Amino acid sequence: DKDGHKHFMAKEIAEQPVAVDTALKAYLDENDAITLPDGLDFTQIERLSLVACGTAYYACMVAKYWFETIARLPVEVDVASEFRYREPPVSPGTLALFVSQSGETADTLAALLYMRDKADVIAGLVNVPESSIARESDVVLPIHAGPEISVASTKAFTCQLTVLLLLAIKAAKAKGLPLPEGMPDDLHALPGLIHQSLASEAQIAAACRDLANARDIIFLGRGALYPLALEGALKLKELSYIHAEGYASGELKHGPIALIDESVPVIVMAPKDALFEKTISNMQEVMARGGRVVLITDADGAREAADGTADVITLPKVPDTLAPILYAIPAQQIAYFTAIAKGTDVDQPRNLAKSVTVE
Ligand code: F6R
Repeated sequence: DKDGHKHFMAKEIAEQPVAVDTALKAYLDENDAITLPDGLDFTQIERLSLVACGTAYYACMVAKYWFETIARLPVEVDVASEFRYREPPVSPGTLALFVSQSGETADTLAALLYMRDKADVIAGLVNVPESSIARESDVVLPIHAGPEISVASTKAFTCQLTVLLLLAIKAAKAKGLPLPEGMPDDLHALPGLIHQSLASEAQIAAACRDLANARDIIFLGRGALYPLALEGALKLKELSYIHAEGYASGELKHGPIALIDESVPVIVMAPKDALFEKTISNMQEVMARGGRVVLITDADGAREAADGTADVITLPKVPDTLAPILYAIPAQQIAYFTAIAKGTDVDQPRNLAKSVTVE
């Protein structure tokens, strides 16, 4: 049941304030203490190995920033199909964490089985608690997104990020480290911020009528927004069949800038944070070469950097730590509205299946 929406994807995008709120409430008690299932004790963990595919892999890439900066834990992130054949050595004190919406992805499951006798703890962060990955894990961490029907992952991604952030905070507390300013209180603002950011829909739909004519589109982001650039590009390819690539904005001048001309829209994700000036200077390099920029930022960022851009999408101001979760919303909406403008099948893109149970 699409609940009045035209597509399951639209419904699932709109459900995110409630889904993220449900995920938060499942892990936070009334004193904002984070409660984890038995068997996961961060005082015993020295490093993490995060393994997943596709969108879930990008959630892991964001989590690396959080675990390293907030909890000072070294993290390795791998796509499951590479990890399983590399026979990586595993050090003592390793938490192996497998992230999967369906819990049935064959490569992720095989990577988990490889880690069986090697990691100290195996955890499965899943949306489907009765899945194979959940069954094979020592510790199951449900994301509480509710059923995700549309092939493209949306609410599962923001709920994966939410639970991964809670884990990073829990790990920091276990090590006696100070939390980032405003945490964990600011977590409670997240559902409301997501709700507010959904209102950029009309701005995004207008920008997408243009994007639908492009042959190639580039997404740029820096720091924890770099994986969001990758996610934006994946979602757009998947749904609109337009060639899209995400780059770390600092990497642009090491090659990809050769692609830029008037025909290539460049979507820049740049909240007004500590890295803003750097990303904007990369954006200006793009504009100097005729690139058509769509800037996604907040009101402060727009005031400083809107000049010369083709479009600005303004999101609410968000605490730095939470920005990757909030910027997932426009990434999803860009893919959705570009697909609508092109007339492709939003919920069932060609060549794709919801769960990939073969290698
Ligand atoms: C992208 C997408 C895929 C999945 C990937 C992993 O929108 O849906 O990239 O994220 O196939 O699937 P799960 O999370 O079920 O292991």
